[in-house]
Amino acid sequence: MKILITGGSGRIGFKLVKRFASSGNEVVSISKTSTINVPKVKSSFFDLADAGKTSKAMNDFIPDIVIHTAALTNVDMCETDPKLAYAQNVNATRNIIESCKKTDSKVVFVSSSFVFDGKGELFTEDSGPCPINYYGKTKQIAEEVVKDSGLEYLILRTDQPYGKLEAWQKDDNVRRVLKALQQSKEVHEPLDWYNNPTYINNFVDATAELIKKGSNGVFNLVGKDFINRYEWAIKIAKIFNKDITKVEGVDSTSFHLAAIRPTANISNDKVVKETGVRFFGVEEGLSELKKVAYRD
Ligand SMILES: NC(=O)c1ccc[n+]([C@@H]2O[C@H](COP(=O)([O-])OP(=O)(O)OC[C@H]3O[C@@H](n4cnc5c(N)ncnc54)[C@H](OP(=O)(O)O)[C@@H]3O)[C@@H](O)[C@H]2O)c1
Repeated sequence: MKILITGGSGRIGFKLVKRFASSGNEVVSISKTSTINVPKVKSSFFDLADAGKTSKAMNDFIPDIVIHTAALTNVDMCETDPKLAYAQNVNATRNIIESCKKTDSKVVFVSSSFVFDGKGELFTEDSGPCPINYYGKTKQIAEEVVKDSGLEYLILRTDQPYGKLEAWQKDDNVRRVLKALQQSKEVHEPLDWYNNPTYINNFVDATAELIKKGSNGVFNLVGKDFINRYEWAIKIAKIFNKDITKVEGVDSTSFHLAAIRPTANISNDKVVKETGVRFFGVEEGLSELKKVAYRD
């Protein structure tokens, strides 16, 4: 299969590139500012908000599938620069979709738990989006663009992905906490931010299976535990043998951040049933990560 992956240098995108390239597919990676070095993968960089460049890349390759992971993922920047957020998260998605219509490519759009507010209920694929910050709003609008396209699509929502990262990639929450604890710094972790942390390899396994099966529609690809950031950091400290007294629980209002965070508990029942992929709880994910990526 010919697969074009946007955001190929990103934390999720890079793992998807490696997985699909190593399983015999022809893979093209696009990022915004960087190229990646993966055997047999053609990698380039430009801004997907540029319709002309997006269309040219798509027409040159004519992919069977586009996996669109690229986004402005800095939630506070999305809040303070909504014009940039709209260009990167909505216009870029529109450009891809318009090209997919011409190349008749299936689209796999990576979305976010931030399309929900997190007021109490357990969110499923049938729950209506209700974002409470601008990043979540842009992901919701982009989902609508995908749904209205008339193309075959998958929308895969995830939450706090973590895993083995390359040295040059941005930290995820686990590496951020570990780096601080390794330097014996205190970490202040919100008691009021709840997530379903998602081990990236589980996300990649489920994506590969959904594509293999020819599945369509919306799926929540999230870890099975719902915990707050303080509890998560304590588990990180314990599993990696760090000093748990350095972890302090705080209220997130003390950070004075631009964007409010939702606290949505999300069900992954649908994807587990569809693919058979088991999504790790936090302890299992961290233990696996310790085996593959970090040593004491
Ligand atoms: N991280 C999270 O907590 C989280 C949670 C839920 C959902 N998601 C979703 O998962 C997806 C992947 O997230 P991630 O954390 O793997 O991303 P990431 O590590 O922040 O990487 C973003 C990737 O997108 C590329 N990119 C951004 N804007 C672009 C543009 N305008 N044109 C071309 N490339 C562009 C970046 O290229 P450069 O590196 O060259 O700049 C990079 O490859 C995103 O759609 C995000 O919304 C993430």
